[in-house]
Amino acid sequence: MKENFYPESEEILFTNRETELETLEFYLEEFLNGIKENVCIFGLRRIGKTILIREFVKRHKEIKSIYLNFEFLFSVPIELSQSFILESAKWFFDKELEIYDLVALPGGEVVKKLLRELEKGESSKTAVIKLAFEYLRELGKEEKIVVFMDEFQEILKLKNYRELRNILGIFREYINDENILFVISGSFPHMMRDMIANGESPLYNQFKELKLDYFERESAYELISKVIECGEESKRLTHQLTGGHPFYIVSIAKRTKLIHRIYELSINPTTIKRAFLIETLYPEGGIYKHCSYLLNTVLSLAKYKAPLIGILNTLLREDGLTQSEIAKRIKVSQGEARLYTSELERLDILQRIEDRYYIGDKVFKMWLDLRKTGELGESPRDTPVEIYLKILERKYLKAKTELGKAKESEVRERLREKLGIEFKSYLDKDIEFDGVGIDDNYVNILEVKWKNKPADLRAMKNFIEKIEQSEFSTEKKRLLFISKSGFTPAALKFAKSNGVEVLDNNLEGVREERV
Ligand SMILES: Nc1ncnc2c1ncn2[C@@H]1O[C@H](COP(=O)(O)OP(=O)(O)OP(=O)(O)O)[C@@H](O)[C@H]1O
Ligand SMILES: [Mg+2]
Repeated sequence: MKENFYPESEEILFTNRETELETLEFYLEEFLNGIKENVCIFGLRRIGKTILIREFVKRHKEIKSIYLNFEFLFSVPIELSQSFILESAKWFFDKELEIYDLVALPGGEVVKKLLRELEKGESSKTAVIKLAFEYLRELGKEEKIVVFMDEFQEILKLKNYRELRNILGIFREYINDENILFVISGSFPHMMRDMIANGESPLYNQFKELKLDYFERESAYELISKVIECGEESKRLTHQLTGGHPFYIVSIAKRTKLIHRIYELSINPTTIKRAFLIETLYPEGGIYKHCSYLLNTVLSLAKYKAPLIGILNTLLREDGLTQSEIAKRIKVSQGEARLYTSELERLDILQRIEDRYYIGDKVFKMWLDLRKTGELGESPRDTPVEIYLKILERKYLKAKTELGKAKESEVRERLREKLGIEFKSYLDKDIEFDGVGIDDNYVNILEVKWKNKPADLRAMKNFIEKIEQSEFSTEKKRLLFISKSGFTPAALKFAKSNGVEVLDNNLEGVREERV
């Protein structure tokens, strides 16, 4: 493993991803047994793709790894090819080398060809790019290797050269070597998916998908505890604020640790909220920087910039609009609205559930929203922090629960009439249920979602997970999940296989739709 590849400060925080590591291990074993299947890791920005690769490389020193980050490698084709080869050689031979050193080593013939090509006044771009892949092939003849290509989507930039329009087709010629396992990874899930799962792409069906998702509750709590010692309430709040995004969790936890030390604030939910606000609204805060990077990237990639901002602002006021509602709000035709929303969806900024659109990342949403009012400094004692604290509580934390609480009790009452079961809200240590009613046969457990957004797979999984951790885990149970705005198909499927009864806002059973 190369020095500094995996700093200790990062390594000690590594949490979870056991299934993903086991999946990669499975493909590694298969590869070593001669059954190779390339892998594509994808997931949102900062969800933990690179750290997963680092952890895997650390755990598997028995296999030779090469790690190439296309984001830093990228440049004009000639330079790209050289850095690609140099970087590969560094990993393979485990030392710093110059291009001329490589001539005498395995793969030297390819390097000679590259040098000859470079001497020509005008070298062929296709030839130099092919030589880079050719070089890997030669190294593979020496010893089996796993080649990680991080930020793989950057390769598409080469399409700007006419000669390299079919860069994916060129890459395709090299990915079936028995001795090289390719693991590509990239940040734009939609684009990455398009590359490997679209029938028209040269890479179609050549990679197994490995998707990284947000952390569930337990892992989120574990990660927080690695940075700061805090109570369950604080952990719950951090999970709620971040939705389980590991980068956001680490950022809040580290900021909390800092303001606890410097400003002598005790670690409690209010300090966590302050830390969150500073991270998100102080221009030097990690979350602020990340969100502004996200917005800039999206704007630089998008064809239609102004309307995109218009759509985001509209959804900030009112999340969950349909395409035609959006068209009306920003005063464009249906066709135009379709173009803009699908672009934002492709860039993973908007999430579409059934025919409604939502800003997918809720921290990004809060950043877009609150930043309009102003920015913050780094001191949690500044007066504006108090103002934002109130906004945060009213708009994003409290309003929802109070409204929700009223709704929940109404639902409990209606269920009592309908089923004859007396439900009571339940809170034990850290586990909260919207209703628990015990009758002669069962423990009846209730979850109520009263939002404008259909309940999704994550909500359903959280419900099951909560139950498994509760005192009722081994009891005979009846599980009821009520959602005002229905359920996503994945949530319904999961509910069905886990024996959860799903009810709509009229407390009528919801059936899985036939597709
Ligand atoms: N499994 C994890 N355990 C602990 N921390 C994590 C984990 N995953 C992500 N993080 C935190 O999030 C940060 C971002 O992770 P990483 O750089 O791996 O994300 P990425 O998906 O590669 O992001 P990008 O899209 O920017 O390349 C890490 O530095 C770390 O602080
Ligand atoms: Mg990365």
